[in-house]
Amino acid sequence: MTPTDTITIPRERIAELTEREARRLDERTQASRRMYERARRPLAGGVASSYQSRDPWPIYLERGEGPKVWDVDDNEMWDFHNGFGSMVQGHAHPAIGRAVTERYTSGTHFAAPTEDAVVVAEELARRFRLPKWRYTNSGSESTMDAIRIARAYTGRDDVMKIFGSYHGHHDTVMVSIGVEYDRIGPHERPVSLPYGGGIPQSTVDHVFAVHFNDAESMERRIVELDREGRKPACVIMEAAMMNLGVVLPEPGYLEAVREITARHGVVLIFDEVKTGICIAAGGAVERFGVLPDMVTLAKALGGGLPSGAIGMSEEIARVVEDGTVYQVGTYNGNPLGMAAARASLLEVMTPEAYEHLDRLNDRIVEGCQAVVDEYRLPGYAIGIGSKGCVTFAPVKVVDYETFKAHQDAELAELAWLYNANRGIFMTPGREEEWTLSVTHTEEAIDHYIAVFREMAADLTA
Ligand SMILES: Cc1ncc(COP(=O)(O)O)c(C=O)c1O
Repeated sequence: MTPTDTITIPRERIAELTEREARRLDERTQASRRMYERARRPLAGGVASSYQSRDPWPIYLERGEGPKVWDVDDNEMWDFHNGFGSMVQGHAHPAIGRAVTERYTSGTHFAAPTEDAVVVAEELARRFRLPKWRYTNSGSESTMDAIRIARAYTGRDDVMKIFGSYHGHHDTVMVSIGVEYDRIGPHERPVSLPYGGGIPQSTVDHVFAVHFNDAESMERRIVELDREGRKPACVIMEAAMMNLGVVLPEPGYLEAVREITARHGVVLIFDEVKTGICIAAGGAVERFGVLPDMVTLAKALGGGLPSGAIGMSEEIARVVEDGTVYQVGTYNGNPLGMAAARASLLEVMTPEAYEHLDRLNDRIVEGCQAVVDEYRLPGYAIGIGSKGCVTFAPVKVVDYETFKAHQDAELAELAWLYNANRGIFMTPGREEEWTLSVTHTEEAIDHYIAVFREMAADLTA
């Protein structure tokens, strides 16, 4: 995974290729440029979410079908972005389309429960081995409500998270992410810093971060905080980090975290907004065989409609059921989203679908690794379920510290440009991974590998 005889790619070569590719992309996306000129007048920054921004302009999409999307310049692209992994079902899946159409003609919203909400909860309970569920409309709402429930359940205010992990845009979790390497602080006591403006310091003061893949330092921090009378209500974490490319848990890490949190009476929340429906039927819970106290879902749950869910143990659910916590929302369990989720879970994301995703992901990871080895690039391919990436780093990334210290951001940006110019749509951002859909084919995978090979050849020419 970390070859010792890698080459050093001249920075001038990366800069030269980046300039060439950026120019080429500008030429190919002139309709997007014009759309941006128009969009930036009524839309702040010309986009609906700051994560959709891109310099010099975003690529505006027009339509998607199966594994492909088309932009407003009519460039046809294999979609490896898939709405940050929300569209693991592929675009415009007929089963989801049928369910949504049928639901639409019978009414789309009542703010009263429907049978689909029950069926989806039954299926989630089966997949994630947690008996009780509630719904939300996004990943942020799921993590916000899960943390509130954990706080009410334990009667504590403080929260522990993993340094550098993203859990959405509510205040408590917008802490200790996106921090520059020289500001992370000591490994044992990384800093708590707000991610952007508008986050009260009083909220930041309730959040403590520890590094991924280091269960011992997590326990030491819990003990220290307990001594100060500040034992955390919960640890919220991704079982595999999905915002530094892909960082997998080292053997024994999740088991140790489970044991430590149980022993200290700290609620363990697996944020499965990204991993949930995507890396196995039962997400990280199934894949790694470790059962947390709570799970948060969103993204792929709704098959393209905004939907989220929170799974919890019977004991924890009691604070919701007895009215201690108000877990509420007008659009929670929206019938249209529930119809889509039901069709997705029962008709699309079947055992065969997961086998297909695993097979394709093995192919793309092996193919990319073969290119890395052949050209002796400083990096490695890594993946799980429908997700993966090539991490451009001379050593293995195991947490945020190693990511920031070693990831070659310029190479990651160049890879994005190569893809964009050759019919592959990826998330603009060096921290993202690919997501395959059940409609992806070997042809899509082989195209991705071929583009990566072309870049490797150009870099080493
Ligand atoms: C792990 C994780 N949790 C929560 C969220 C927030 O989800 P949303 O953007 O739907 O609010 C994200 C979004 O990227 C995420 O990756």
